[in-house]
Amino acid sequence: MKVLKHLFENNRKWASNKIKNDADFFKRLSQQQNPDYLWIGCSDSRVPANQIVGLPPGEVFVHRNVANLIVEKDLNCLSVIQFAVEALKVKHIIVCGHYGCGGVKTVMENKKIGLIDNWLANIHKIKEKYDSELSEINNTAVQLSKMCELNVIEQVKNVCNTEFVQSAWQNNQSLSVHGWIYDISDGLLQDLEVCITSHSELKDEIEKAIRNIFTYTN
Ligand code: CO
Repeated sequence: MKVLKHLFENNRKWASNKIKNDADFFKRLSQQQNPDYLWIGCSDSRVPANQIVGLPPGEVFVHRNVANLIVEKDLNCLSVIQFAVEALKVKHIIVCGHYGCGGVKTVMENKKIGLIDNWLANIHKIKEKYDSELSEINNTAVQLSKMCELNVIEQVKNVCNTEFVQSAWQNNQSLSVHGWIYDISDGLLQDLEVCITSHSELKDEIEKAIRNIFTYTN
């Protein structure tokens, strides 16, 4: 092996530490996965799903992309949601954004950087939707934070509107969708006070969460 040797060394240490405390750890995991949580988060290297919530392998099904977006025609993300809801029967879907998100920032600064602009167009639509509220905030750092929060809520709505979540609720499957945000500067998660457990709650919960975002300043 020519390169990245240290990563393989880390891996050997990690695997042996795991079985030191729990000899059957990998044997058990190899039989099946049974996670209660689907995490949809940003690809940002500073927001590692399992570590943030202190969960070991096997406990959280993860999808990450730039700016934690759930896009109607994105086969990748939709396949993850379908498998998590229908096959794994996760009990919770967590959409977790983070402050200072580079994807959101690029949109706020109206920067164009190439291919990824097509992806970020989804955030641009959110910015336009809340343009009048956002323009009342004259601090750009606060504006960015609010947009990061708004993006989470809009993505929670998108998750809830997928056919998989809708039919799970119709079939009385226990499934909650949550909106969280992570602060890279202190390592802490914040609940955006949105927790949707049925179709009938969707509209009110989303409206309430949006109102919350614009009624406090951080
Ligand atoms: Co990000």
